[in-house]
Amino acid sequence: MILRDAAPSDVADLLAIHNEAVRDTTAIWDETETDLAERSAWLEGRLSAGFPVLVVEIEGAVVGYASYGPWRPKTGYRHTVEDSLYVRSSHQGRGLASILLDALIARAREAGLHRMVAMIESTNTLSVGLHERRGFRTAGVLTQVGSKFGRWLDLTVMQLDLDR
Ligand SMILES: CC(C)(COP(=O)(O)OP(=O)(O)OC[C@H]1O[C@@H](n2cnc3c(N)ncnc32)[C@H](O)[C@@H]1OP(=O)(O)O)[C@@H](O)C(=O)NCCC(=O)NCCS
Repeated sequence: MILRDAAPSDVADLLAIHNEAVRDTTAIWDETETDLAERSAWLEGRLSAGFPVLVVEIEGAVVGYASYGPWRPKTGYRHTVEDSLYVRSSHQGRGLASILLDALIARAREAGLHRMVAMIESTNTLSVGLHERRGFRTAGVLTQVGSKFGRWLDLTVMQLDLDR
């Protein structure tokens, strides 16, 4: 297992991971799969802004990634970031998300950021627990603010105080 920063050549693997989450999960509140051009622009945007995109590679393929980016666009929010974390279903349950999130938090602390926010669909107890064990606490739950697969989705809003 190799943990490293993403390179532009990883974009096809990142696209596959993203689209699997769109198709099969309520982690991404989108019903439409995206394409290589959109994911390339996303990756380029993150890297050029100096935000980390960390990947785990196994046997030559990227099977998971973690990143953070601006939580909200206005400049007053610049000390706060929002994380994202995905592992291919074929490689879940092996500790890869834990490794990725630990490394992502370390990067945010090195960058001198103040808060990390996680927005998690409320039935995703695995992700909520993963974040809680790293010090995130639930700030609140927004009920029925989304919908997918014919049901309402609640959003658990969590935050980590990075400079503690
Ligand atoms: C959520 C997700 C990232 C977890 O990835 P993963 O690589 O399978 O997770 P890990 O194997 O690292 O396990 C994470 C933690 O949950 C625990 N865990 C894993 N499977 C578990 C299970 N079946 N029951 C209880 N705990 C479990 C692990 O022990 C680990 O604990 P730790 O926090 O003490 O380290 C992955 O399931 C995923 O990509 N899901 C779809 C997208 C998604 O939900 N992303 C998160 C959006 S906020």
